[in-house]
Amino acid sequence: MKILCIGDIVGTPGCEMIYSQLKYLIKENDIDFVIANGENAATGNGITKEKAEKLLDSGVNVITLGNHAFSKPDSAILMNSGFPMVRPINLPEGTPGKGYIIKECNGKRIGIINALGRVFLNPIDSPFDAVKKCVNEISDKTDIIIVDFHAEATSEKAALAWYLDGKITALFGTHTHVQTADERLLPSGSAFISDIGMVGPYNSVLGMSKDVSISRFVTLMNKRYAIAEGNCILCGIIIETEGKLPKSISRIKIC
Ligand SMILES: [Fe+2]
Ligand SMILES: [Fe+2]
Repeated sequence: MKILCIGDIVGTPGCEMIYSQLKYLIKENDIDFVIANGENAATGNGITKEKAEKLLDSGVNVITLGNHAFSKPDSAILMNSGFPMVRPINLPEGTPGKGYIIKECNGKRIGIINALGRVFLNPIDSPFDAVKKCVNEISDKTDIIIVDFHAEATSEKAALAWYLDGKITALFGTHTHVQTADERLLPSGSAFISDIGMVGPYNSVLGMSKDVSISRFVTLMNKRYAIAEGNCILCGIIIETEGKLPKSISRIKIC
């Protein structure tokens, strides 16, 4: 089983790259299942119904979210009507949607969990407690478990991966939009990478206009962010599994 995980898709340029490239990428790499982080797919963050549906039509099987999960109202409506989308599991009780989903692929049951970090982000329940509880609950009902840990700090991401080592197939980080080069298999077998990167304009600051970003840092005035233009970069990982544990984790980065 080969699972492709794609980092934060940024705005219309990022979505357009997925619409045009994903089917080739799936074919070229014999991909069976695709997980993509869609929390920045809409202009101004969040995700719209139209973009979510087009991402699925392009080959994405499950969309994960993050701190911008509800920046657009569509995500709540979609999740409440059974759309394959997950929001962070450690959000307060009563938040629309679910923090995990189980999907079947080639006779295997794949559990996908989304969680949000607490370092340099808004206060929230412990991702360690929430994810561990979920893993314990779904272990018997799944063959593979993948965690998208949407967090800022590499330390928090590494700690959660070590905490779950051997109990999950893989944990990958999202949110920073910058791919890290620390992919590895941990001693008890789980795959880990701090951040898989983004799908968005290459000549940018995390997908946003570099001029606006520079101006915000130089002047400290909150000029409105704008999505950058130009060619995109597509970042992600491919996890190859053998039973519950992975055989390999490899990075992809396409310009
Ligand atoms: Fe993001
Ligand atoms: Fe984020």
